[in-house]
Amino acid sequence: MNICVIGTGYVGLVTGSVFADLGNEVICVDNNVEKIAMLNRGDMPIYEPGLEEMIARNVEDQRLSFTTDTEEAVSHSDIVFICVGTPPKENGESDLTYVEQAAKTIARALNRYKVVVNKSTVPVGTGELVRDIILTNRRRDVDFDVVSNPEFLREGSAINDTLYPDRIVIGAPNQAVAMKILELYAPLEHPMLITDVASAEMIKYASNAFLATKISFINSIANICEQAGADVIQVMKGMGYDHRIGAAFLQAGLGYGGSCFPKDSLALIHTAERFGYDFQLLKQVVAVNEQQTMLFMNRLKEKLNGFQDKVIGVLGLAFKPNTDDMREAKSLDVIRIVIQGGGTVKAYDPIAIENTRHQFPDIFYGRNAYEAAEGTDALIIVTEWNEFKQLNLERLKKVMRGNVIFDGRNIYDPIRLQRLGFDYTGIGRSPHAFNSK
Ligand code: UDX
Repeated sequence: MNICVIGTGYVGLVTGSVFADLGNEVICVDNNVEKIAMLNRGDMPIYEPGLEEMIARNVEDQRLSFTTDTEEAVSHSDIVFICVGTPPKENGESDLTYVEQAAKTIARALNRYKVVVNKSTVPVGTGELVRDIILTNRRRDVDFDVVSNPEFLREGSAINDTLYPDRIVIGAPNQAVAMKILELYAPLEHPMLITDVASAEMIKYASNAFLATKISFINSIANICEQAGADVIQVMKGMGYDHRIGAAFLQAGLGYGGSCFPKDSLALIHTAERFGYDFQLLKQVVAVNEQQTMLFMNRLKEKLNGFQDKVIGVLGLAFKPNTDDMREAKSLDVIRIVIQGGGTVKAYDPIAIENTRHQFPDIFYGRNAYEAAEGTDALIIVTEWNEFKQLNLERLKKVMRGNVIFDGRNIYDPIRLQRLGFDYTGIGRSPHAFNSK
């Protein structure tokens, strides 16, 4: 099948590469000239495990190409995926400018029947909007259909998530159109739900908001555990064995970041308001998430008698492991709080240092965890990279000035750390509770 993918962000690049890998002819387009030049040189604009190899293989086999000429790419294709960004406006509402632009370009290039598939995360009703824009702007009386096919991939495991999805959701105006998209996904052999466009659009937001709710819920439980002498890891395990609950997304920590949960929760609150519903539950989920890092940092500040003249090591900068994405990363709040309190920050991340430098050019960046820890009074674990889990803790202790470890992702065993002479604090982990992970 001839496919055009508009937008070369995480969703667009991964979707385009996977469809090419399945044997389709795919043209990925973006109006960012530099990005397309990079991709044509074989350089990756984002870090995603396995993506570079997959792109190289399909470009070489001539199934995948990159261009800035959207009209040309659309006119060659039978299926057009819209994978552009939908950034939040000041009030939390999704900004649909790029989706609208894409729809207008598709309208101008409409030369034969096409299925236009919306993969961008968009509020309920956007399918209708795209349809109206194409109807108003098309130059020829050519038929088309608009489908919603939300994307559930996670950064860092995007290719795997796309190849082995829990479900594929296809929201189409009728069965015949749905079958065209179903055919595209058939080689993946994973469960597919065929539904209407509005429900598909809602499934995406409801899923992300529910996962965000799980995280804020367990973080609230963790905050109680700390006071009650209970261990949130044990609580999470005990809850997770109940198959109605499940253990996934019940890791207590500094809260959720990234390009989706914070933005999508706010957008759903806004959509609810538009339909006259006050989504109080989700508002609290957002509030708990915003407070979580502050509560943690207040405890550290108390322990150190303030941050003035203190040196604080920050291990992990990206919003989660296996990505260099800094969007809504908790490390940004952590660094800001230390600096505002008069402290100095020494940071390390395996791949996100360059992206952090734009925002904090003046802090010290170590070449490894030990260098970042050197001379620090306290060390904060912000991102649970695997390489931090197996650090040589004796060596770490020797290079530090103090012995305080604040583990914002619960990667260490409190008892072990105490035995090694650290003053350890996790999230929701009582030092008195029966151990351990
Ligand atoms: C998320 C959704 O999982 C994905 O389906 C959607 O398409 C895009 O948004 P992503 O943002 O890439 O994916 O990362 P994810 O792994 O879901 O983590 C999001 C945030 O939640 C991270 O900051 C992570 O640290 C945090 N998190 C996750 C927790 O704090 N606890 C958990 O148990 C799980």
